[in-house]
Amino acid sequence: MAQAVATLQRPPGKPTAFIGGNLLHYRRNPLGYLMDNARQYGDMVRLMFGPYYVYQVNHPDDVRDVLLTHADKFHKSVVYKRLLSQYLGNGLLISDGDYWKRQRRLAQPAFHTKRINIYAETMVDYTQRLLATWQPGATRNIADDMMQLTLHIVAKTLFDADVSSVSHQVGEALEVLLISVIGESNFLIRMPDWLPTPFRMRKKWSIETLHTIVDDVIRARRATGEDKGDLLSMLLLARDDDGAQMTDEQVRDETLTIFLAGHETTANAMTWTFYLLSQHPQVEAALHAELAQVLNGRAPTLDDLPRLPYTEMVLKESMRLYPPAWSFGRMPIEPVTIGGYTIPKYDTVLIIPYVIHRDARWFPKPETFDPERFNADNEKNIPKYAYLPFGGGARVCIGNSFAMMEAKLILATIAQHYRLTLKAGQRVEPEPLVTLRPKYGMQMQLARR
Ligand code: HEM
Repeated sequence: MAQAVATLQRPPGKPTAFIGGNLLHYRRNPLGYLMDNARQYGDMVRLMFGPYYVYQVNHPDDVRDVLLTHADKFHKSVVYKRLLSQYLGNGLLISDGDYWKRQRRLAQPAFHTKRINIYAETMVDYTQRLLATWQPGATRNIADDMMQLTLHIVAKTLFDADVSSVSHQVGEALEVLLISVIGESNFLIRMPDWLPTPFRMRKKWSIETLHTIVDDVIRARRATGEDKGDLLSMLLLARDDDGAQMTDEQVRDETLTIFLAGHETTANAMTWTFYLLSQHPQVEAALHAELAQVLNGRAPTLDDLPRLPYTEMVLKESMRLYPPAWSFGRMPIEPVTIGGYTIPKYDTVLIIPYVIHRDARWFPKPETFDPERFNADNEKNIPKYAYLPFGGGARVCIGNSFAMMEAKLILATIAQHYRLTLKAGQRVEPEPLVTLRPKYGMQMQLARR
């Protein structure tokens, strides 16, 4: 707990094997393993991944100390930095220190409410295009549909480009990226970089594909100097206090970062929401009632959003049970005391929304899907940092409002026209990759409402 007296001892944790530490057991069922850690050992838990010490931080006060109070003593975890930097260079997600501060300052205006509000129409328009391809009675893999939809939306809002022609390639390249990050993070010993394994060749292809596509768009846009009102224009036009702009390479890093961070997460949030609705007919009925009352059959607009509180509650509760960014890491750059333990520099600290969101101290009957937790009266009783689908502190998700607006508009547009029921025999299991995905996809049957 946060009040404990600082000690040099390490927190308690499961016994470790001679080789690999806790990795072998952890990998069999990461989510179950981490949940069990919290139940068994409490607010601060020690793990060993191979020879490396990892601290699982489970108490909201301690999470606040990592993300806010002592934020300047932490950098992003070195493992993800190493894996992602080949794709994302020094983009916002993985940069640190003064460089990160400057880039965040330059990128922030692109996410200003006034700026992102103009994307509402695009979000609804692309959702309607998806619906035009749906047939009542058909079965679809909703996980795939949501991934395509959010990819198209982020491409359009980022580049003002109808990238349907290249979106397939981009989607495939991003998929390879995610697989490579997971694949490589599973190996403690790195293969030599010169070894041309098939895996490495695919990775090389995906890096080149992503860089070529984005570089072309940047070059074309720089040539015209036009402000198209999209995120890319904002990034290209942003100026520091001394008038300096981002270089093309920096814009590419940030663009790819937003591309990656901005579609996979939202897609997963939507897929889990449709799954949960299919399992909870009363919640679904309440959602339909709100949509009917407010929209009465017409497409939602930006102005409708404040009048759709239940839609928002459903999404928040869905991200409580299935937070797309299910875990994120930090590395102290100097010794720092968290939860009464002094953590040496360069160890890893893990914050795991999946575990914290299922803590009965903050969420009674934590396994129950109940959007009422987020009604105006109840929500204020949730401790700060006990609910953190978008992280917290200075590095809170920059796309937070963009994502909530997008999720609400997609849900309102689809749920007005269709009920989605889980296909018989569909196995449902969350798979904790970079984001929390449904391991076996999500085949659902479409019924017209
Ligand atoms: C439901 C959807 C989303 C979820 C759950 C989510 C979650 C998160 C979380 C937890 C972080 C902080 C990670 C950490 O502290 O280590 C983060 C950072 C970030 N997110 Fe999101 N995100 C979502 C959507 C988006 C969208 C739509 C965009 C852009 C259009 C975006 C762009 C970013 C960027 C650039 C960062 C890095 C910010 C920084 O470190 O300064 N995200 N996101």
